[in-house]
Amino acid sequence: MNTDMTGKAALITGAASGLGRATALKFAAAGADLWLADVNAAGLEETVAMLADSGSTIGHEVVDLSDPEACMQAVVAAVARFGRLDALCNVAGLIYLANTPQMPLDQYQRTIDVNLSAPFHLSQAAIPHLLESHGAIVNVASSAAHIGEAYAAAYCASKWGILGMTKAMAMEFQKAPIRINAVAPGGMVTNIAANFVPPEGCDFDLIKRFSGMRGTVEVADVADMILMLASEAGRGFHGACIDIDAGITAG
Ligand SMILES: NC(=O)c1ccc[n+]([C@@H]2O[C@H](COP(=O)([O-])OP(=O)(O)OC[C@H]3O[C@@H](n4cnc5c(N)ncnc54)[C@H](O)[C@@H]3O)[C@@H](O)[C@H]2O)c1
Repeated sequence: MNTDMTGKAALITGAASGLGRATALKFAAAGADLWLADVNAAGLEETVAMLADSGSTIGHEVVDLSDPEACMQAVVAAVARFGRLDALCNVAGLIYLANTPQMPLDQYQRTIDVNLSAPFHLSQAAIPHLLESHGAIVNVASSAAHIGEAYAAAYCASKWGILGMTKAMAMEFQKAPIRINAVAPGGMVTNIAANFVPPEGCDFDLIKRFSGMRGTVEVADVADMILMLASEAGRGFHGACIDIDAGITAG
């Protein structure tokens, strides 16, 4: 598989931890220059330090992607740094579990803003540059983009949404030199688990339904899929979603 990204530039959101960091490490190992964006300054510095000897040029920016203007500016900054953009990886995300009637409005809104609206605004700004470079967008959905998960109505809405958005944009640019795809991971051991607090009085039978029987998925394996979709190796993929969820959505 040709996953060489030498001479190419990628913007990766959520790069301060978990899957975003793993994706940054994979892309750097493949030779890409990187613009890393995240709201977590300390985590971002750690990722940059981990990439110090990678040979790639690394730029980074602390940015709250719930702000549409900040999304647009992140793309502007990446293109200003590298003069091109070959891949946009929309990895940043968050989850709050809640009983639907009690979910605070700010948690609902932030879930939609970060998980769904930010990838939309980043894509808006990135697409003209990706059309020039014949580049790719890779969105991170979730097994929650295919099934209903109890106590996660807002998260599921955002992830079904990003999957629909991936396919709609793929159709819109069916005749253009850009590829737009998604990955849908199952549970991974990352910082997002900090917000994976079952709501008071919840029914654990319902939570078991989306916990799966085979354990978690490795972030490095999901990052490999993101790199594959963004690189020459993924040239046959457009409007696709690669499920890597250890069977959660099998039935
Ligand atoms: N961990 C899982 O079980 C799992 C399963 C399926 C899908 N996912 C998805 O994988 C992606 C990565 O999550 P992860 O598991 O690596 O968790 P993580 O918490 O380690 O990483 C998410 C990153 O997004 C960043 N982020 C959150 N809000 C932001 C904002 N407003 N602006 C900028 N950055 C922001 C966080 O700071 C963090 O670095 C998410 O889209 C998540 O929904 C995770």
